[in-house]
Amino acid sequence: MIKPIAWDKGAVVVLDQRELPHRVRYLRCRGVEQLARAVEVLAVRGAPLIGIAGAYGLALGVRRSAPGTVKRDFQKALRRMARTRPTAVNLFWALERMERSFRDSAERGGRAMPARMLGEARRIHAEDAAICAGIGRHGAGLIKKGSTVLTHCNTGALATGGIGTALGIITTAYGRGRVKMVYVDETRPLLQGARLTLWELQRQGIPATLVCDNMAAGLMAGGRVACVLVGADRIADNGDFANKIGTYGLAVLARHHRVPFYVAAPTTTVDVAVKSGAAIPVEHRHPDEVTSIRGNPIARAGSAAYNPAFDVTPAGLVTALVTERGVIRPPFGSLRKRLSL
Ligand code: MRU
Repeated sequence: MIKPIAWDKGAVVVLDQRELPHRVRYLRCRGVEQLARAVEVLAVRGAPLIGIAGAYGLALGVRRSAPGTVKRDFQKALRRMARTRPTAVNLFWALERMERSFRDSAERGGRAMPARMLGEARRIHAEDAAICAGIGRHGAGLIKKGSTVLTHCNTGALATGGIGTALGIITTAYGRGRVKMVYVDETRPLLQGARLTLWELQRQGIPATLVCDNMAAGLMAGGRVACVLVGADRIADNGDFANKIGTYGLAVLARHHRVPFYVAAPTTTVDVAVKSGAAIPVEHRHPDEVTSIRGNPIARAGSAAYNPAFDVTPAGLVTALVTERGVIRPPFGSLRKRLSL
């Protein structure tokens, strides 16, 4: 299986996803700043993986700390990792969990802190793999035998510590003979579908067809999509959720064409402090990502461009939400209550 992140002899090694599918190249991040930059430029991406990177970042920040400086080093690393990307709540969940572990360990004395922080980061990583497997198992049951499905962005092994979320469902269902073919949205502006999802599916020998984002309507109108599966970066308590830009449009299209629209995410993506989608912070990125494709300009220099990385889909457009705990359907009421979070 693809390993997008690993701890190796005092460094965090990440698969540089900007180079895929043409080159498989790893970055060796020896310091917090280097890892934080890797997250910001999307060398490392996908909500669960950003959380795992955040946790390893804190382990990196204290790996050589003396008891007298460990607290300061930890806080500095925490502030830096928290500034990388604002939307995926998995990052803040992982940072908070590391902070709790730091506090508990501090009470027991600081000398073993670097090893404790690394241990906690490794646990967060391993737990995500188990969570993905659970999502895959629960979600695969939703897909009818012989389905052609459509997915957006990349929600696979590259985006998580395991087999992925929405893509993990697809690969699990394929293994059970339920998926015939996968339409992969290219996912402009940064083409995570074309570059990453297609690559993952091809590696696994799963039939996949690349489509431009603006082709989904025609496919659905022609009855060629049995269901849509997407991931999430942050789910509000009422079930509204942020995911890669273009997800909301797909949800509207799916409703119009009566195509089931499934969202898959670990419960760590649910932010019960955010009541509805309106309060989810949406990252806006540099206009160059829209005015160019992989560094090649497609519009005149200086052209204005709008570049929100995510949009928010209302809970009412969701057919079902798949987490590691099972499948739930709207009306969700409060996810905090519904999922006992
Ligand atoms: O900007 P990205 O590539 O990090 O966005 C990723 C997505 O929107 C994914 O759908 C989401 O993080 C879920 S990944 C399991």
